[in-house]
Amino acid sequence: MCGIFAAISDRPVAGVLVEGLKRLEYRGYDSAGVATIDDEGLRRVCAVGKVSALQQRVEAEPLPGCIGIAHTRWATHGAPSEVNSHPHMASGVAVVHNGIVENHGELRQRLERQGCRFLSETDSEVIPWLISCAVADGSGPARAVRSLGEHIEGSYAVAVMTENDRNVLHAKRHGSPLVAALGPRGGYLSSDISALAGLADEAVVLSDGDQVELRRDAISVFDKSGRPVLRARLPIDAVGEHFDKGGHPHYMLKEIHDQPAVARAIEARYDKSPFVAEQVALDFNQIDRIRLIACGTSYYACLVAKRWFAEVAGLSSDVELASEHRYAPVVADGQREAAILVSQSGETADTLASLEKLRGLRTPTIGIVNQQVSTLAREADFFLPLLAGAEIGVASTKAFTAQLLVLARLVAHAAEQRGQRAAARRLRAALGEAAKTIEAVLHNEAAIVAVAGILAKARSALFVGRGALYPLAMEGALKLKEISYIHAEGFAAGELKHGPIALVDADTPVVALAPSGDLFPKLASNVREIAARKGKIILLGDRKALLALSDVADASLTLPACDELLQPIIAAIPLQFLAYHVAVARGCDIDHPRNLAKSVTVE
Ligand code: AGP
Repeated sequence: MCGIFAAISDRPVAGVLVEGLKRLEYRGYDSAGVATIDDEGLRRVCAVGKVSALQQRVEAEPLPGCIGIAHTRWATHGAPSEVNSHPHMASGVAVVHNGIVENHGELRQRLERQGCRFLSETDSEVIPWLISCAVADGSGPARAVRSLGEHIEGSYAVAVMTENDRNVLHAKRHGSPLVAALGPRGGYLSSDISALAGLADEAVVLSDGDQVELRRDAISVFDKSGRPVLRARLPIDAVGEHFDKGGHPHYMLKEIHDQPAVARAIEARYDKSPFVAEQVALDFNQIDRIRLIACGTSYYACLVAKRWFAEVAGLSSDVELASEHRYAPVVADGQREAAILVSQSGETADTLASLEKLRGLRTPTIGIVNQQVSTLAREADFFLPLLAGAEIGVASTKAFTAQLLVLARLVAHAAEQRGQRAAARRLRAALGEAAKTIEAVLHNEAAIVAVAGILAKARSALFVGRGALYPLAMEGALKLKEISYIHAEGFAAGELKHGPIALVDADTPVVALAPSGDLFPKLASNVREIAARKGKIILLGDRKALLALSDVADASLTLPACDELLQPIIAAIPLQFLAYHVAVARGCDIDHPRNLAKSVTVE
């Protein structure tokens, strides 16, 4: 979950390196650094914190080099500090690394016995030393980079340059994303294609094990056995789409407001033609069970889909956290199974490990992904795009609703294949109202600002829901804690009485998701149990439900009435606004919350 950027040009590259890091900052922002080579040799400038701190340093200490590598770090081994920042250097070799060197301890000891002197606490610093020792033993830099795979256990993407050859950048990918591109002003490497916008028209997407030699005017790609290979080239979208906040103060707020457009984009792609049938060559009538796998917010989308698969398609499913699934025992029960892996980035290490495991079990896999240039999109058997556009804010918003909207279409397709036509028609009719209903909720933002004040002062908060809104309670808690740092937990409302209600007192705000529906009477009882213990109740529900509980609500947010099947999608929006406005009230860093990164490419 770090960001790599590199450039080789006929003019100084420091500025383009810093700009590239700014576009990768969502991947991690504990520290950042650049290194270039000029007539004076290798130079390195680093700064703790966001890329803006590095930019100030680079402006104060100009770097004239025309070849350089750069890195924005999410700390795994070693605190955020200048000495732990990348690039790491060793005897004229400079390296930036994304991933984890699992066996860094033994490598470090072995290298220290050979006389290598380490400066940092990081795992990554073993890499320049491995290369430097191989070069000292007579390998050329390219061969030394290729030999990394003989030593390193774990995932990595590296960009490497050596002081004695300013005409070539070396790179290699193994489990962490990397793309290369040639533009009018030179060659570039990046962890993410979107960071190349405006520099080149197309990018070469590297496969696992690939190695690159990048010159100002040429890209040479070699596969894991060292054979020259041609890789797919993809167009690079214009800058505007990715890095414009649309007049909003934060990417997260822009992305919340993007959601009606996202819903319409999904409608246009998925509802005007049998798109799911074209993309997913599976007969759900021949499937006994679905396995949904994801992490974080994407996992909560899967929990909602579990209920839809049961209620609409009559299909049972299991939902698993990828970090658990990847190590869980396999039960061979003869059930015909298909797996659905859901991810915004398509690069989440745990989710990719689950994909690997499922492919080993020959389970058909469907990837539901936003980043179309990603490992999951490329390597799952079937792929359904989220069409949400770049999501820069670390807290996932539009990608989450897009996941629900796409999962719902997959459920409707499965239901039709399984003869559940009436249920499928009902779901599709509900989805047809999604964009309009989301838009209606967005107009309610002002009311949410007032409610945010209640939560902003809290030390902790509870979120409760029932049925398909129980996962939304957990998602609302995650949104709040990840950007406002308030401790929050989501519970099944019926579970409160089995322990968590002990947490409720006059200082504990409880957000209750209470739309009308079959479960409302039960939810209403749970809300009254909370009121009896003086809990501060914030109700989210439609008019009818709020009226029924008006005597116990300290605050309420009205949701538009809609088909129960659509309620999880609609409830997500006020929860996103709530977390956003609480975090603003608390002066938190909305788009770069502490300790987090947008794409968790390490386990
Ligand atoms: C969501 O707000 C979080 N940033 C995080 O939980 C995220 O959903 C999780 O890391 C999974 O990421 P993915 O969807 O890219 O796989």
